[in-house]
Amino acid sequence: MGSHKIKRFVADTWKDYELLDSGEGAKLEKFGGVILDRPEASAVWDRKKSFKEWDKAHSSFESTSKAAGYWKQSGKVPNSWNLEYKSEEHPSLRLKFKLETTRFKHIGIFPEQSCNWEYIAGKIKEGDKLLNLFAYTGGASLAAKSAGADVTHVDAIRQVIDWTRVNMELSGLTGIRWVVEDALKFLRREVKRGNKYSGVVLDPPTWGLGPKNEKWKLEHSLVEIVELVSQVVEPDGFIVMNTYSGLPPSTLETLWRRVLPNASTKCGELCLQGRDGHLLSTGSLIRVEL
Ligand SMILES: C[S@@+](CC[C@H](N)C(=O)[O-])C[C@H]1O[C@@H](n2cnc3c(N)ncnc32)[C@H](O)[C@@H]1O
Repeated sequence: MGSHKIKRFVADTWKDYELLDSGEGAKLEKFGGVILDRPEASAVWDRKKSFKEWDKAHSSFESTSKAAGYWKQSGKVPNSWNLEYKSEEHPSLRLKFKLETTRFKHIGIFPEQSCNWEYIAGKIKEGDKLLNLFAYTGGASLAAKSAGADVTHVDAIRQVIDWTRVNMELSGLTGIRWVVEDALKFLRREVKRGNKYSGVVLDPPTWGLGPKNEKWKLEHSLVEIVELVSQVVEPDGFIVMNTYSGLPPSTLETLWRRVLPNASTKCGELCLQGRDGHLLSTGSLIRVEL
């Protein structure tokens, strides 16, 4: 049996992003020069900073339903702006993201993912193959590409892939392979074709839409996704899975240990650290090393 332990993965290597405060179901964040106030269910405590400080937000997101809402502007927010991530540990890891306030509360980046970018940059060797599923605007794809990987980026939404292409160009990178497809269908085909990857990264959402607008629920596909990923990963490869869908780390661990009982796993919570030092948990993460 491989080793395993539960831990916290804290994204504390940012220079241009900061979690200024959190509490009462919201978080106050600074992305470059832009301050945003967004809903955050796990911020169940009181806010530390005064209303005056929270009022400095250039834009605040008001939810109208579970998945959508609108931004209330109080300062001048550009239509889009760029944010840079520079790693100290891996000098080639210099990523640039185009950010935009979208009606789904997201802005084109999950800053807590910087822990994964650092991990991937450390694991990838020139020419390794990396598969990024449910890849969104491509943080993990860019991190792997900057380390010399041959990257396949899969997302069901064409506009999201177009956005990632902008991020790739802003980051001075080229040559990512784009696949606009349902991740599960793509995986089934990769298994049939016998294709293998040194690393697989996946961040399946609770629910989603396939390329033909078909509804997709994580709970219906999770076991099959995990099994298929275990078949496309090289015998000495690695897997990074995270989820914002509420599955606890030990559930991720059990899922993966069922299919890869001899692998080493590290799982825990992906966290942001506020100015006051307190941690804000944003989701669950597992790293599986074969
Ligand atoms: C939570 S985001 C991933 C965030 C990513 N980990 C990051 O760090 O930027 C989920 C992504 O999955 C995509 N998606 C939803 N359903 C999908 C499906 N059936 N197949 C492939 N991608 C899907 C969405 O378009 C979205 O970009």
